[in-house]
Amino acid sequence: MKSSSEGSGRPLGYDVDDNATRFSNYFHVLRELVHGSNGWLPLVPEWPRKYSLGDHLHDDARALTKIRRRLYELRHPSDYPGTPSPELEQLLDRLAGARSPEGYLDVAYGEAKPALVRAMRIHLEGLDPVADEPSLRLLTQVVERQERHARELGGAPTPRDGGDIGALPVELHSGARELPVLPPLSEPARDDYVEVTPGGDPYLSRDLYVNGPENHVPIEPDEQRHFFHGLMDAELSAAELMARNSHEHPEMPWDFHVDMARQTWDEVRHAHLHDLLMKEELGCEWGDYPVGFSYFRSIYAYDLLGRLCLFNGTSEQRAMWRHSHRRKVLMELGQERVAMVFDYLLADEVPHVHNGVRWGAHLLGGSEAAYREKVRELRTALDETGAPA
Ligand SMILES: [Fe+2]
Ligand SMILES: [Fe+2]
Repeated sequence: MKSSSEGSGRPLGYDVDDNATRFSNYFHVLRELVHGSNGWLPLVPEWPRKYSLGDHLHDDARALTKIRRRLYELRHPSDYPGTPSPELEQLLDRLAGARSPEGYLDVAYGEAKPALVRAMRIHLEGLDPVADEPSLRLLTQVVERQERHARELGGAPTPRDGGDIGALPVELHSGARELPVLPPLSEPARDDYVEVTPGGDPYLSRDLYVNGPENHVPIEPDEQRHFFHGLMDAELSAAELMARNSHEHPEMPWDFHVDMARQTWDEVRHAHLHDLLMKEELGCEWGDYPVGFSYFRSIYAYDLLGRLCLFNGTSEQRAMWRHSHRRKVLMELGQERVAMVFDYLLADEVPHVHNGVRWGAHLLGGSEAAYREKVRELRTALDETGAPA
């Protein structure tokens, strides 16, 4: 138990078991926040909130990775550090029991994240900054991010009172808490001012999406407006697919969820990049043209292996060539600002394609050859733009 040591003014700190218990409680809250945010992200209509959720769930996944590591250091190795107390379960059940994006965000940002912030601040005040410097560094970084999250999506300042979830007991040597999975999506949500039609934007022609000599690079202002608007929607769909891959497969190894969280954040960042490019360079904005979900639906209908093969292993793999081609053509025309966008899209696509190889092979007993064979097989159902034939 914490108390001040005589003389030095330095807190005596927590004993190792109490310290590990605190981290176990953070583990449980963050694990369910990552899971829930992945499930709800596609159903949040408002673009800025969808962006923040993608950003925060990536922070949370990285924080959880570090907390797992700290638990490993403090306690016998365990992938699942005990069962939460009934009191913590009440909070986790409220998170899991949300029936709308609003309801989820209210609990996640109005209760769970403020509870984490409170507990981590208490932890930081009470720990021995020398003996327990690894916890000091970890918590200093994580608590600031949690405070930012609560500010960005919580609305109200974090209440100071409300109990300390870090001090709740955990029951060791018992099984993992089940992560309930939301019903399958029918389609993702968009801002109410965005028109959703079956065919999407009729301006977007096939030759923009084929690889090879017949590929058309949009160079005129009007075609660039439509192109980047369509690309922003495609980035959102990509984020939503990755978020759902993670949410719908809690049985996958933790590293899979970290990879999906990173890609979800990358894709919403790409959408943010296109949003700015449209406003600052192209004179248009999100919502100016219709969008459609036929491609999203065609990929979402597959199981996890099929999604990895067709989205990461095919769509994103083929997009690399087009991004490189677009960059070269636009650079030659002196359109550096637009060309540079494709440079970073291309760089980020490399790990995204690798996510397909890594986790597709995992699902096939570790065989990359079996994954590549599956990619070849599923590609026969696609046309030259990567859409279902
Ligand atoms: Fe992207
Ligand atoms: Fe991507």
